[in-house]
Amino acid sequence: MDKLKVGILGSGRGSNFEAIAQSIDEGALNADIRVVISDVENSGILQLAHKWEIRAEFVNPGQFRTKMSVEAEARVIEILKEEGVDLVVLAGFMRIVGAQLLRAFPDRILNIHPSLLPKFPGLEAWRQALEAGETVTGCTVHYVDAIVDGGRIIAQEKVPILPGDTPESLHQRIQKAEHILYPKAISYFRSENL
Ligand code: GRF
Repeated sequence: MDKLKVGILGSGRGSNFEAIAQSIDEGALNADIRVVISDVENSGILQLAHKWEIRAEFVNPGQFRTKMSVEAEARVIEILKEEGVDLVVLAGFMRIVGAQLLRAFPDRILNIHPSLLPKFPGLEAWRQALEAGETVTGCTVHYVDAIVDGGRIIAQEKVPILPGDTPESLHQRIQKAEHILYPKAISYFRSENL
């Protein structure tokens, strides 16, 4: 059976990327990570990509803080197309995806968000859940569209909020759930689309 060709975009540590790479390695996910692209030159995710011997590309995002320049996004698309990517996976990518990239991969971009969407979109969603006094939060894999954290949901996992939790302890527990959920959601995408 065909492997799903995946391109990963991330800005940070890359723990979700590594969980996906591990799941492929263990034979649980029939996919091939063709490239990891980052807007942060010295990011953990690019270092991890080198460790896994996966093509790692830094793309200078340009002058804006929350999005990529038109040129940067065009370069990202060029790399993803070069690799024949079927699915773009955002794994801690801290910029808004522009119209150009959305058009190049319609219904083929996924993101993971650390809350049970539609609750707590936006930054530091684990802190938002804690401050709201919730007893349960979680993580969500969803399609990316023009509304930030607003696309159609593919999968969710609940995570309890325990007495004495700090933002850090809660975020760690959510990330453990993310590392299990994201490979499963990608596998589901594959079964629906290949
Ligand atoms: C994750 O917690 C995810 O929910 C959010 O960004 C974080 C990325 O972490 N979108 P990592 O870089 O995968 O470790």
